[in-house]
Amino acid sequence: MSDPTRTARRTVLAAGAVALTGGALAACGSSSEKPASEAGTGSTPQAAGSSPAGSSAGGAALVKSSAVPVGGGTVLKEEKLVVTQPTAGSFRCFTAVCPHQGCLVNKVENGSIDCPCHGSKFEITDGAVTKGPATRGLAEKKIVVSPGGEISLA
Ligand code: FES
Repeated sequence: MSDPTRTARRTVLAAGAVALTGGALAACGSSSEKPASEAGTGSTPQAAGSSPAGSSAGGAALVKSSAVPVGGGTVLKEEKLVVTQPTAGSFRCFTAVCPHQGCLVNKVENGSIDCPCHGSKFEITDGAVTKGPATRGLAEKKIVVSPGGEISLA
């Protein structure tokens, strides 16, 4: 008969290996998700980040933190997101879809995220409207910054 202590230890090691593998697969799997919901009305901004299983953490990297200027930001057209760094080491992420009529914001300048269509401007700190015609701010998205400096959706 086998020693129960050894069996238990082996089980723990195997579980750890599965957890690691599962984490890697989850990260790859979530990269195929398209932020299509971002193109909608924006009335449910938390939908993508509120997975009940909590397994959506570790999505594909959006951008390197080093590519986001301090006091500015980077527009990610394909992902329809804008990542800002209001102060050194502090990153925020918002939808790039303007709440006015749905254009994509196209630049971050002078502490402001700007929409080219009708001139709306938004704060890089919290996405709030600073100049209309937009009446609502940019919805914030939760992000994580890896130790290696990769920024991903949480
Ligand atoms: Fe952005 Fe009108 S769509 S200001």
